[in-house]
Amino acid sequence: MLVAGNWKMNGTGADLDTIAQIADAARGFETVDTALCLPATLIERAARGRPAFPIGGQDVHAEQKGAHTGCVSAAMLRDAGATLTIVGHSERRQAQFETDSDVRSKAETALSSGLGVILCVGESDEVRESGSAIATVSAQLDASLPHGDAAARGVPTRFAVAYEPIWAIGTGKIPSIAEIEAMHAALRLRLLAAYGDAGDQVRILYGGSVKASNASDIFAIADVDGALVGGASLTAADFMPIVEAAADARH
Ligand code: PGA
Repeated sequence: MLVAGNWKMNGTGADLDTIAQIADAARGFETVDTALCLPATLIERAARGRPAFPIGGQDVHAEQKGAHTGCVSAAMLRDAGATLTIVGHSERRQAQFETDSDVRSKAETALSSGLGVILCVGESDEVRESGSAIATVSAQLDASLPHGDAAARGVPTRFAVAYEPIWAIGTGKIPSIAEIEAMHAALRLRLLAAYGDAGDQVRILYGGSVKASNASDIFAIADVDGALVGGASLTAADFMPIVEAAADARH
């Protein structure tokens, strides 16, 4: 199980204590890989404070360096102490117009640079209502997956997929158990098609309004290998019960 927090555009130096609390508490759950994906400005201080705890970025540029004002490269993330990064979060796909092919390039660059990757996919409300969620998200995954050398080196150990229905993010709404199960099973098939046997080992996380009260039910679903957690990752009191639920899950 992998439980990763996504702090989005939240957190300043005043929150380093919270990060340390989460890192310290996570050591009590050895069977769960716990990580926090932080704003770029906090990564170095957080990593320095708790060097053994995995700290991630929330995005990375596809190029290694150059004239890209405001962007952060994989080498910069690593230099700051990050060991992983999110790519393709729906908030970036929507607000920064990132395409599947952008996301694929970012994932390949990050893996080639030695970072772990959590690659996000997920459907809008309209797509879910229209009945084509599985076809849409499967196609999104196919077009976003890293290939070539980067994939050969990073899949499956440093690579995870997060299924995050856009309409479930920050809304308190989640899909039914059956809907999550069907989506994760479909994504597993895509991973097997792309990577052969290694596709079986890639973790598929669920994300979108995960909290202490629903985590156990979500982690009990076949092919749910963890969670990407936004709002409920901002305090140890909200986040650690989710990590605990992952530790208690049977698979
Ligand atoms: P949420 O966000 O847990 O606040 O719904 C999840 C995410 O966007 O990764």
